[in-house]
Amino acid sequence: MVKQMGIIGYPLSHSISPDFQQAALDYCAIDANFHSWEIQPDDLESFFQNIRTSNFSGASVTIPHKEKCVELVDKLSPSANLVGAVNCIVKTGNKLVGHNTDGTGFIRALKAKANFNPKGKKVLLIGAGGASKAIAHALIKSEIAELTIANRTLDRGDRLARQLKLIMPNVDAIDLNRKALLKPLGNVQLIVNSTSIGMKNGPDPLASPIPEDLIPSNVLVNDIVYNPPDTPLITAARKNNACTLGGLDMLVYQGIEAFELWTNKDAPETIMYAAAEKALGI
Ligand code: ATR
Repeated sequence: MVKQMGIIGYPLSHSISPDFQQAALDYCAIDANFHSWEIQPDDLESFFQNIRTSNFSGASVTIPHKEKCVELVDKLSPSANLVGAVNCIVKTGNKLVGHNTDGTGFIRALKAKANFNPKGKKVLLIGAGGASKAIAHALIKSEIAELTIANRTLDRGDRLARQLKLIMPNVDAIDLNRKALLKPLGNVQLIVNSTSIGMKNGPDPLASPIPEDLIPSNVLVNDIVYNPPDTPLITAARKNNACTLGGLDMLVYQGIEAFELWTNKDAPETIMYAAAEKALGI
């Protein structure tokens, strides 16, 4: 019987996961259909009843369902439990297991595509939402030396910093403004934007989260926004001669990690990249 897989989110028109996951399944000759399951929040519980009884074998989960899925699966992986969010569901026997591959995908992309090992590094993380939390935990697990979280709402940044301090003492939260950013920007080796600033059709598509003239040349700038590929932050970083990594890499690598959990096979990375780039018109 053909396996049924997919991505669960709302809205989903922007998602390119079906493109690169179906390409990977086809390449590996796995008899599966990867759907785009656009499920409204009120319908999520009944959707879960369906996947328990049907020929479902796995799914990606995206906004706004990542946190709700924590309650709806039968078991959580250690990383999903730590982050409090599920971005990947694997059906094992009759059980639905929730995983989180955002953090591991982020680190794998850094190492594979920017040749950057975060161990011992000082990091500025912009944002304090769900994506930021997964990235912060993954960076701490990779043994970074220091983490500064810059967020528009300082309270939220402080809350995340307090949680993280329980596992690593060198964590601070600051305001996302020019004056507060000056000190960390003179001190870090990695800058990560984990907000939606700069995203096409997002709240602030033309802005850079950091004033362009403040981006140092001796850092790696990683924007997790993947559409457009050249965000205002990436363009400014390039102008200032900094190294850059776009958001497509984290997106594809979290998908690669998910594919490997679903199939127990190595993911065909080149095939997945080609399909993702084609879907984005790159
Ligand atoms: P996600 O789960 O995708 O991370 P989220 O939990 O809503 O989404 O978090 C979004 C992050 O982007 C937050 O850090 C948010 O800042 P606030 O905590 O101040 O809301 C940040 N963000 C979104 N739009 C922003 C904007 N226009 N300017 C600055 N920060 C923004």
